Amino acid sequence: MKKLIITALSATLILGLSACADKGETKTQAKSAETSKPTVTEESLGLRKENLYTESGVAPVKKVDVAAAPGTAKRFERSYENAPPLIPHSVDGLLPITKNNNACLGCHMPEVASSVGATPISKTHFMDFRHQKMLDHLAEQRYNCSQCHVPQANVKPLVKNNFTPDYRSPSEKKKSTLIDTLNEGVK
Ligand code: HEC
Ligand code: HEC
Repeated sequence: MKKLIITALSATLILGLSACADKGETKTQAKSAETSKPTVTEESLGLRKENLYTESGVAPVKKVDVAAAPGTAKRFERSYENAPPLIPHSVDGLLPITKNNNACLGCHMPEVASSVGATPISKTHFMDFRHQKMLDHLAEQRYNCSQCHVPQANVKPLVKNNFTPDYRSPSEKKKSTLIDTLNEGVK
C-alpha cells in the first residue's frame, strides 16, 4: 500500500515537472519569434547578383575560352578518382542532345573512338547497374551525356575551391577504373 502511494506521488511529480518544462519551452519559442527579424531576404539568396525570382539581366556565361574543336583540345585531369571527365573541347553544334540526335556518340562510341582520338565511353555506361549485368548497348540512363559531362568556360569562380583530390594511382588522373572497383567493399 505504502509503495503504491509513493509511486502515485512520484508520477504526479514527474508529470508536474514535465508540464512546467513544456510551458517554459513555449515561452522561449514565442519570445524568439517576437524578437528575431529576418536579416536575409529570400530574394537575395544565391550567388548571382540578380534577384532569384527574375531572369531578366541573367545570361549564360559569355566568355568561353575553351573553344578548341574536338580533336584539338587538351584533356583535363579528372576532378577526383572516377569523376566524370570534363568536356575539354567545344560543344558548338553538338548540344542539345535530343531523342533523335546525339552527336557525342559519333566520336565516343568504343568502336569509333580510337579512330578519331577520342576517349571511348566508359564500360560502366554499358551496364545495367540494377541487375549488375553488362548490356550489348549503351544504357538508357547514360544517353544524356551532358547531364554529367560538362563543357568548361574560363571564368573566375564565385567561390574559391581548396579541394585537392587524392588518387590511389597516378593513372587515375587520366582514366576511369570504376568498372574494376565498382563493388569494392560490397560483399
Ligand atoms: C568530332 C568528334 C567528337 C564529338 C562529336 C564529341 N567529342 Fe568529346 N572528345 C573528342 C576528342 C578527340 C577528345 C579528346 C580531346 C581532343 O582531342 O579534343 C574528346 C574528349 C572528350 C572528353 C574528355 C575525356 C577524357 O578522357 O578526359 C569528354 C568528357 C567528352 N569528349 C565528351 C563529349 C560529349 C559529352 C560530347 C557530345 C556533346 C562529345 N564529347 C562530342 C571527340 C569528340
Ligand atoms: C549519369 C552520369 C553520366 C552520364 C549520363 C554519362 N556519363 Fe560518362 N562518365 C560518368 C562518370 C561518373 C564517369 C567516370 C566513372 C565511370 O567510368 O563510370 C564517366 C566516364 C566517362 C568517360 C571516360 C572513360 C575512361 O575510360 O576514362 C567517357 C569518355 C564518358 N564517360 C563519355 C560519356 C558519353 C559520351 C556519354 C553520353 C553518351 C556519357 N559519358 C554519359 C558519368 C556519366
